[in-house]
Amino acid sequence: MSKQRKRVLVTGGAGFIGSHVCDAFVAEDWSVTALDDLSSGREENLSTDVELVVTDIRSPEAAKLVRDGAFDLISHHAAQIDVRVSVDRPDHDASINIMGLLNLLEAAVKGGVRRFLYVSSGGVVYGEPDEFPVPETAPKRPLSPYGVSKLAGEHYLHFYREIHGLEGVSLRYSNVFGPRQDPHGEAGVVAIFARCVLEGRTLTVYGDGEQTRDYVYVGDVAKANLLAALTDVSGSTGMDEVAFNVGTGVETSVNELARAVMRVAGRVVPVEHAPARAGELQRSCLDSGRLAGLDWRPAGELEDGLAATYAWIAGEDR
Ligand SMILES: NC(=O)c1ccc[n+]([C@@H]2O[C@H](COP(=O)([O-])OP(=O)(O)OC[C@H]3O[C@@H](n4cnc5c(N)ncnc54)[C@H](O)[C@@H]3O)[C@@H](O)[C@H]2O)c1
Repeated sequence: MSKQRKRVLVTGGAGFIGSHVCDAFVAEDWSVTALDDLSSGREENLSTDVELVVTDIRSPEAAKLVRDGAFDLISHHAAQIDVRVSVDRPDHDASINIMGLLNLLEAAVKGGVRRFLYVSSGGVVYGEPDEFPVPETAPKRPLSPYGVSKLAGEHYLHFYREIHGLEGVSLRYSNVFGPRQDPHGEAGVVAIFARCVLEGRTLTVYGDGEQTRDYVYVGDVAKANLLAALTDVSGSTGMDEVAFNVGTGVETSVNELARAVMRVAGRVVPVEHAPARAGELQRSCLDSGRLAGLDWRPAGELEDGLAATYAWIAGEDR
């Protein structure tokens, strides 16, 4: 008798990170469905092995899919992801990041889904931390509605675990970069810098450029999803006990990043400084020791990932 393939639903699966997560599960021979409203995701990001369902996570159709889809796992990536949009329109942010999440969680309970991987953000739930790299147990002091909604999701997960027995695991990503990140809009700084260097344009650095981030490659993030899908979390109770930081523990300043992108591209462009942006964190860096305990470590150095990203952006433009 043939073995039943495990089934995963990746929400936001046509997006930057979600599509790599889909690839990782396909490579492990899972049956993969992506749910995405294509508001920023692209169908071209998905391999033909992935079934795409186009709908909003807040819709009755999404709830029906989760309830009736016989999924073993949901990896929840769909979200309103822009901090500034959340500041301007906190209700819009909450509508997607909280009400959308609840629509899926309710349906997951009804559908008997075993595990729910929730994508949180290590860059925003801690606010301005007191210690670096930041462990999962650090105080949570989000400074934006986006940070508040991401943290609220983790609390909801705890509730659904305690009261409904849904196995919730949170992944708190640091700054993710890699191929398929949108270099056109206000997306990640790596994609923007790579595109500027490719086109020979000036790089704009806000403030003095000494603010740091923890850049983690998207392939390593996808691997973290695979590990979190299967790890034993029985016996864990508190919200932080089922949360995993996903970062490298290495701080890189924006100035260093600009130099590194130029190095991998083999070309130099001018750098200009613009006034610092209000509310921007000065430092961000995550302690991923708990994830390392599941045998996770970044596959390469920052410049390996930057080279892959630059090559992808250059290829996209041909
Ligand atoms: N990029 C990072 O550095 C980073 C860091 C921390 C956390 N995250 C989280 O990772 C997840 C994925 O982010 P990303 O960077 O890949 O962004 P992305 O915009 O590429 O992916 C989000 C996907 O969700 C879809 N989507 C948005 N609203 C939806 C809705 N209402 N219904 C259905 N689909 C919807 C979009 O079309 C898109 O495909 C998000 O939850 C984000 O908060 C990202």
